[in-house]
Amino acid sequence: MAVTGRRIGETLLSVDNISLSFGGVKALTNISFSVKEHEILAIIGPNGAGKSSMLNVINGVYHPQEGKITYKGQTRAKMKAHEAAQQGIARTFQNIALFKGMSVLDNIMTGRCLKMKSNFLLQAFYLGAARREEIEHRRKVEEIIDFLRIESIRKTPVGRLPYGLQKRVELARALAAEPELLLLDEPMAGMNVEEKEDMCRFILDVNDEFGTTIVLIEHDMGVVMDISDRVVVLDYGRKIGDGTPDEVRNNPEVIEAYLGNSH
Ligand SMILES: Nc1ncnc2c1ncn2[C@@H]1O[C@H](COP(=O)(O)OP(=O)(O)OP(=O)(O)O)[C@@H](O)[C@H]1O
Ligand SMILES: [Mg+2]
Repeated sequence: MAVTGRRIGETLLSVDNISLSFGGVKALTNISFSVKEHEILAIIGPNGAGKSSMLNVINGVYHPQEGKITYKGQTRAKMKAHEAAQQGIARTFQNIALFKGMSVLDNIMTGRCLKMKSNFLLQAFYLGAARREEIEHRRKVEEIIDFLRIESIRKTPVGRLPYGLQKRVELARALAAEPELLLLDEPMAGMNVEEKEDMCRFILDVNDEFGTTIVLIEHDMGVVMDISDRVVVLDYGRKIGDGTPDEVRNNPEVIEAYLGNSH
């Protein structure tokens, strides 16, 4: 498939023996896996398996009770949310989290927040520098709009767009942060076949052209098998599979838990 000729690098992120519970609910039990630079890793598993929780641990929204997270060579017991963002981890959400009344362009601009150096005071006193910075941000955002082919809707309020396009705008906002590690929580959920094909193409292009490492959660097994280098399988908060798409597809435990029936 399209996953050829790319340079897979050193380990960018590893999670070791992560356990996370909410009261009596064990969302994750002893989970370990790693992601290498430029890789596309898929996390799959039935509803409630702990997939979204895993992304929330990686970007510091949830703090696990046990385990370690090593990102860019630095090991810690938990990731803090602002630290994750500052160190180049961006994500999209299972339920679209955009400002529905704001235009596509303005929503994508919010993805640049962390990159903005000048605050209001600086903007007041050093107008020239602030203006130059603003122009640079706009340029970057226009580049992303171009890349994701959403020029024609740049002024449209997000709430008026069909679902598939809203998902694309959310990807655009995440890309505006110029992430090194992009976490995508079901980027193709609820899309029709054509929209899914487009989204797959964009994900592969992001990975290819920007070298972005990608961890994505996806239920569509066709998509997973097509675009991922490796697949981690969760079931009831435990890891039951980890390998190439072919290895995972032929793993009896995975077939039993997940692939065997409706998938
Ligand atoms: N903030 C929370 N408070 C309490 N329980 C939670 C919280 N977040 C997740 N859980 C629980 O943790 C378990 C794993 O949920 P999670 O959302 O990670 O699963 P998932 O694999 O993403 O499922 P889905 O495919 O439905 O999105 C579930 O039992 C869920 O109810
Ligand atoms: Mg989820």
